[in-house]
Amino acid sequence: MTGNGAVSLVWVPVPPSQTHERYEAVFAEVEAPFAFVDLDAMWANADAMLARAGGKPIRVATKSLRCRALIEEVLRRDQGFAGLMTYTLPETLWLAEQGFEDLLLAYPTADVGALGELALRSVANPGGAPIVMVDCVEHLEAIESVLGAGAAPVRVCVDLDAGWWALGGRIKVGPKRSPVRTVEQAVALAREIERRPQIELDALMAYEGQIAGVGDRPPGRRLRGAAIRFMQRRSTKELAARRAAVVAALSEFVELEIVNGGGTGSLELTAAEAVVTEVSAGSGFYAPALFDHYSRFSLTPAAGFALPIVRKPSPRVATALGGGYLASGAGDAARLPAPWLPAGLSLDPEEGAGEVQTPLLGEAAAGLAVGDRVYMRHAKAGELCERFDALHLVQGDEIVDVVPTYRGEGKSFL
Ligand SMILES: Cc1ncc(COP(=O)(O)O)c(C=O)c1O
Repeated sequence: MTGNGAVSLVWVPVPPSQTHERYEAVFAEVEAPFAFVDLDAMWANADAMLARAGGKPIRVATKSLRCRALIEEVLRRDQGFAGLMTYTLPETLWLAEQGFEDLLLAYPTADVGALGELALRSVANPGGAPIVMVDCVEHLEAIESVLGAGAAPVRVCVDLDAGWWALGGRIKVGPKRSPVRTVEQAVALAREIERRPQIELDALMAYEGQIAGVGDRPPGRRLRGAAIRFMQRRSTKELAARRAAVVAALSEFVELEIVNGGGTGSLELTAAEAVVTEVSAGSGFYAPALFDHYSRFSLTPAAGFALPIVRKPSPRVATALGGGYLASGAGDAARLPAPWLPAGLSLDPEEGAGEVQTPLLGEAAAGLAVGDRVYMRHAKAGELCERFDALHLVQGDEIVDVVPTYRGEGKSFL
């Protein structure tokens, strides 16, 4: 309600309903298995992420898209999507060759050959060459080892550990990434960089995986959910203070162009920190199954794959061909693909999702016959693209394009 009692209406586009019937009609001519992205859902997710970022630019995490055409589309869509967060140096160099700019490699590299190529690129374009991640002197030495005497400086970003520590460090929550955690450690590494004229410190990144990548409403686990929410609240507060202190200390002697943080699951929290200049996100475009359980936002499933039913071991079971596309990470059940459509299917606890077959149980399985198809979702975003050469892009009730994944372009970086 507005102040004068009138109801204020905000128009939010609603993606077309996601039903088995609709997708079966759309993909009537396509042979399963195949993968697809529902663009209506993806753009709804993109708009929701822009709103959550509250005006801070979103750097697009390529590992979570792994499709050049869609990365291009996202960057074209809105100025709020600015720059790419890449995941290997060969990938970064390949994207730079294709004309992508503003590239931040989020993970350190020991690939000396690729660093040599980066050095050449830095000569050709000193201010616009990709920025690479460092968190120790060895990373600096690897960079220096490839630089000739007259080389232009290579641009680097310091990775700050964003984990949450409790009980004086006896409990550590968050990805085991950088050894650089305190203001003193960050300053020490920045001073090491300062001593090396051929390396230029341009950026700071701190990725709070324990907030951005952990759903705080795990289904059927209320206590665990409460513990996660407690941890995330504490961690958000601790990191905001530490990140601000590190930025203040570094800013005494370096000009940081970029202070990056966050991921799909933390956009509004990370963007709210004054020192953060940009946030990153990737998974939120496809909205894979691991992103179904957050209290702060909800996304629309936008990527999936279809499998053909090839046998009926019994009337109430339908078995699909293939499907064993497990996600990386701790090998728990949440890494399995999620049966999606028709609704009411579940995996067999004994067999899970298999290399050559995936039996499907549940109410809907009885109604499936040989030759029917089922739709599944990957637990994670970009890894789906390592299983398929192409993505069928759907808009409304049509396939509007079929575009290669990284794998379809012969590129499998990790
Ligand atoms: C450094 C970094 N930033 C951001 C992200 C967030 O990516 P996404 O939005 O795909 O979860 C990740 C994901 O692992 C990451 O490693």
